[in-house]
Amino acid sequence: MSTDLFDGLPDLRPSREAIAEGAVLLRGFAKPVEDELITALREIVAQASFRHMLTPGGHQMSVAMTNCGDAGWVTDRSGYRYDTIDPDSRKPWPPMPPSFLSLAKQAALEAGFDNFATDACLINRYQPGARMSLHQDRDEGDFGAPIVSVSLGLPATFLFGGLKRSDKSQRYRLEHGDIAVWGGPARLAFHGVAPLADGEHAVLGRQRINLTFRKAR
Ligand code: SIN
Ligand code: FE2
Repeated sequence: MSTDLFDGLPDLRPSREAIAEGAVLLRGFAKPVEDELITALREIVAQASFRHMLTPGGHQMSVAMTNCGDAGWVTDRSGYRYDTIDPDSRKPWPPMPPSFLSLAKQAALEAGFDNFATDACLINRYQPGARMSLHQDRDEGDFGAPIVSVSLGLPATFLFGGLKRSDKSQRYRLEHGDIAVWGGPARLAFHGVAPLADGEHAVLGRQRINLTFRKAR
């Protein structure tokens, strides 16, 4: 007979799935704080609405974006960059809510990255059919800090490749509450999201929201 104290009790430790050296999926990690996140998200969007930005090549992105934090990621005909001002409202981006900050810090720590001092959160909204082609996150001033990426709403297929665009990418299903963290040797890995399948999420409806925390400056 086993004498394991924890026999028969559910395993409450977050599940972690290594996907590359320096990259991990934390399944369900954001679930316990989903209500706080969604409430804070609605407040942000009331001040800085989602918009479809233009790429430097003049294409409108299928993903709609907004930001919170000291700096926000923007793109237009003049290029990709971080800006402290929302170009639509001409006001600073809404501040990063405490629930966002602490979740990002805890997830980074769980993935092995200490003291993640995020100053920028890009918020992506995918409606059915929206996608993000393979890219690197390389507009930040500090590649020493990881990327922490929180999935909410409809499930998506996340593509995670290597350091070269031509490296083969693996596909991972990301569900409501899952967090992907990549840094260190994986910080500049190519990644993207396949076209979102239609569906209805119990809380968020026909969309997927992704919160991507970075250290921009
Ligand atoms: C991104 O790379 O900014 C978005 C990733 C995601 O939506 O999961
Ligand atoms: Fe990215």
